[in-house]
Parts: sequence; C-alpha cells; structure tokens
Amino acid sequence: MKTEKLYPEYKNYIWGGERLATSLGKRTDIRPVAESWELSFHKDGLTRLANGETLKDAAAREDLGANAANMDIFPVLIKFIDAARDLSVQVHPSDSYALKNESSLGKTEMWYIVEADEGAGIYLGLKETVSPEQLASAIEEERLTELLNFIPVKSGECYFIPAGTVHAICRGCLIAEIQQNSNITYRVYDWGRRDKDGNPRPLHIEKARAVADLNKFSQRKFPEGYLGISRYFTVRELSLSGELEHPTDKGSFVCLTAVSGEGSVDGVPFSAGDSIFVPAGEGAIKIIGKGKLLMTSIRKYYVGIDLGGTFIKGGIVDDLGNIITEAKVPTGAEGGADAVAENIASLVSELIRSSGLESSDLEGIGMGVPGMIDSEKGEVVYSNNLGWEHFMISDKVEALTGLRVKIANDANVAALGEARFGCGKDYKTTVFLTLGTGVGGGIVIDGKLYEGNRSAGAEMGHSVIVAGGERCTCGRRGCLEAYASATALIRDTRRAMEAHPESELWKIGSIENVNGKTAFDYKDTDPTARAVVDNYLEMLTVGIANIANELRPEAIILGGGVCAQGKALTEPLTRLLAREIHGGDLGPKVEILIATLGNSAGLLGAATLLME
Ligand code: BGC
Repeated sequence: MKTEKLYPEYKNYIWGGERLATSLGKRTDIRPVAESWELSFHKDGLTRLANGETLKDAAAREDLGANAANMDIFPVLIKFIDAARDLSVQVHPSDSYALKNESSLGKTEMWYIVEADEGAGIYLGLKETVSPEQLASAIEEERLTELLNFIPVKSGECYFIPAGTVHAICRGCLIAEIQQNSNITYRVYDWGRRDKDGNPRPLHIEKARAVADLNKFSQRKFPEGYLGISRYFTVRELSLSGELEHPTDKGSFVCLTAVSGEGSVDGVPFSAGDSIFVPAGEGAIKIIGKGKLLMTSIRKYYVGIDLGGTFIKGGIVDDLGNIITEAKVPTGAEGGADAVAENIASLVSELIRSSGLESSDLEGIGMGVPGMIDSEKGEVVYSNNLGWEHFMISDKVEALTGLRVKIANDANVAALGEARFGCGKDYKTTVFLTLGTGVGGGIVIDGKLYEGNRSAGAEMGHSVIVAGGERCTCGRRGCLEAYASATALIRDTRRAMEAHPESELWKIGSIENVNGKTAFDYKDTDPTARAVVDNYLEMLTVGIANIANELRPEAIILGGGVCAQGKALTEPLTRLLAREIHGGDLGPKVEILIATLGNSAGLLGAATLLME
C-alpha cells in the first residue's frame, strides 16, 4: 500500500446532526449524520479507499506493522461523532468480560473535543465510590446522572474513558473518538426518549451493572506529548504550521486524522475531517500545511528495571526505545532480597500510575541485575554486590506484579541497550563497561548479546589486573573492579586526602563527602587530585587494553556513574590505549565512547529483553 486518504462509513443514530457536514466537510446523504467511521476494520462499518476497496482487504500485514499484525483482532477504531442531542448514558465492558460474553474485545476509548457549544459537556465516571446496591437503585429510579461527574468541555481537550467508566456524550459536542475495535455498548439510561418508530431503545442494565466500575473516577494523566496511550492505540497531537518530516517505522502504521486546517501528507491532500493512512515502514513522510492532526499508531510498552546496589531505576519504554516515564527508588538491599523485590514491585506500580497505562497494557518487565544471572531460570545465582545466592527473583517479582519477568546481568542488558538504541547502533561488535558501584561488562557481537555459558559471562570487572592487589567484593584480589569502579575511586580519593592534609580536596569538608566526582572536580588545580585521577586512568587503561587485545571490538562503550566525566575520560583513555594496545596504531582502531543513553542504558536494555 501507499499513503492514502480514507473514506468513512456513516451512521444515522437518532442523536446525530449536521455538523459532520458543516464543520468537517463530510459529503453524505445520510441524515442525521451521527458518526463517520474513519479508520475501521470492524464488520459493522468498514473504511474504504478511493478505489472502493476496504482498507481491511487492501492492507497487508507489513502495511499494518508488526505490532497490530500480531494481534488477533485489529486493535483500533477511529470515528468522528456529532452529538446534536445527548447520547445515552452507557458503559463498556473490559476485554475479559467482552471476550467471554460477547466474543468481542472490550472498549476503552478516548475523546478529542473538536468543537463544543457553550455549556456543552460530558458525563464521565462516578463522583464518589458507590456500592452495587446504590448503583442499582440510582438506575432504577432514573437518577443515575446525579452520581456522575458532569464536565463542561472545550475544543482541544482530551478525555480518556477506560472500559467500565459510566459516561455520556451530551449535545453540542463534536468529537474525534479513538477506541478499541469493538461495537459493544451497554446502555443504562436513554433520557426516556423513543426512536423514529416510537419505541424506546433497548437498555442493557444487567450487563452494565456487571461491568461498571463503582470507584470514584479520576482522570488519567499521560506523559507529555501523548494524548492517550494503551496497548490498542497511542495518540499524539501534531500542531502543523509549514512543513515537517515525520519518521515511520516497521512496528506500526500511522493514521493521521485532521481535526482542523488543511495540507498534505506525502502529497495526499487533506482538510479538517479527513483521515490519511500511512503504511508501516514508509520511511520519513512529509507533512505540509497548517492545523491540528491526531496521530494514531500501535505501540508496545515494556517496563525496564535496572537494579543497582544503591538505586533501582525503572522506566516504561515503547518498542522504539522511547522512555515515556521513569523513576528511581533506593534499593534497600540491607532489608534482604525479598524486601528488594517488594521495592521493585512498588516502583513498577508507580511507573504504571504515572504513565497512564494499565498493567494489562504492558508486555512485561525486563530487568538487569548485578551478579551471575541464570536468565533461563530467572535466578540470581550469585551477586557479590547484593550479597545474594540462589534468589528466584523473576518468580518473586512476577507474583508481586502479575507481569511476566525476564532478567539478565545488569551490564549485559546495558550493553544491549546501547547497541540497539544508543551509540553502539553504528557498530557490529561492541563491549560495554559500567563504571559504577562495581565494574560490569557486556559483549555484543553482530548485534547479539553474548552472555556465555548459562548466561554467567562477560564479567570483565573481575579480570585481575594486579596479581595480589586490592581486595575485590568477589573475594579475589586485584580485579579491574577493585581499581576502576566508582567505589575504588572513592577509596583512593579518601586515601589521598588522608595522606595529603594540604590538598585542595579538603574543601569538600569531610572525608564522608567524597564521591566518584570529587577527584575529577579538583584535578586541574590540585596535584593530589590529579594523581588520583591519573592512577585511575592508568588502571582503567590496563583493563580496556586487555579487552581490546582479546576481542578487538570496534568500540568500547563506557557507562555507569563515572562516565558523567565525558571527555575527561575518553580523551586520556584514547591516548593511553593507543600506547598500550597490541600492535599500536598498526591494527584496527578501538573507539572509546561514552554511553549516549547514560544512566538509561540499563533500563532500556532491560526492556529490550522482551522485544522480539
Ligand atoms: C558484578 C557484576 C555486575 C557489576 C556492575 C560487579 O561487581 O559482579 O555482575 O555486572 O558489578 O553492577
């Protein structure tokens, strides 16, 4: 397929009016015009293309993109709705209820208010939590609307209506609705009116009572830039003024629905009220004109967790590697393994809440954990940093969150994150070193993570660089970690301060205030700090040169807290590596790079564990 304008199916429900024609330029003889089904694969109203073919027949799997094509039912339906009169008060079922009782998906939806008359509004959810009996008697006594929030609405606003929310669109609203691909509605109250044949329209009170959410309603908030997100649709608003290029990808088609203005998408003209279908993987599309467009696509959402010795960082990540929300909490390792799992679970709940998603929208949790990990079993076999042995962390977090969990070593997943979404994208073979509480390593060969036997591998922080040297947390002496971790840098800074009372480093007050930045902060003015940094760089170079000689990757990517030093790290290391690497400048160069994803490499890589 190519980029094409969509031709809707119209519906003449009793509450419709003229506005689809007058405000949105819809040409149809149907009166009243209540709805235009703009993007629909639903049997009750299929969208067509200019040649009369249905979009459903014309669009191949690759036009829809992998995300929609892999679902059993095409996920989304887009409509314009003109409420010249009030729509019934109604409620929609969830997927689980609808699949069991209606052989259909449930219906979660969102409304973008295109136009609203003065005083026009919507009923949305319950003002207060009620009991099933209170709901039943309010329905019975025809005073249900007394229990509902009435919200006056304005053009440009957006509302999200999860399945189970009792709601009604009232007269005077012209709405663009993006909903799950379902035509199931349970009507609870129809204002006592009759249809064109003089009969009351059927009510579905039993079913409505079974599916209605009885809790006080609160409106969902979505991360900046998103009007609404769920596993069925991701909607963003595009304010157009002039010309722009927008990327498309193989994961999803894009449907652009113009709510105002006019212009063209890759040469296909549009004006307010039109929808344009852009097939997945179309490359960069050119959008020209002015006005507002709703951009609907199908994205997958994952939780990425980076479990560290000090903090647990987490984020919700989409299939393109965009972090839509992130947060961190202290690890609380002193409370024991079970307590850490509980901290992970509460962080996951917080991320879900702040993203506006529900846990059923998520594909699962990917997690990077320090130590020797059995990824198959979901077990932390041994973690020197956390002091754990044989902890079945995946089972534990699955039980607490109800989401499936995949784990791998923290540095391995960070390596994967950088290789897929960060500065490793341009290279085939990269090695990732985290310079944090510990020193972790990850190897990516031809885009694939190399984890070694039973995923216990790539522990480059535990290669010995000084036989009989400093004690490492793993029990051996002289490991790279014992010299190149932030922990080692802090130890060496403190030692230097104790040996040099005259050092400027004492400006920080007490030795307790030393962190992984302190020596770098003073290196340009203080010889003691300079010596700490130089020694640190020399030791790190030994480790890096070993890796370069053994694997000859195209690039070694540095992550972890110390990588915040940027050029103060890469420039001397590049120089020192040129001196140390086997064959000097005769062999292929090994680049030293700073992780572009910074501290997010771990959580992004962790999310990647669940992406096919
Ligand atoms: C652990 C590794 C971990 C690294 C970074 C090391 O001490 O042994 O498994 O990847 O720290 O957290």
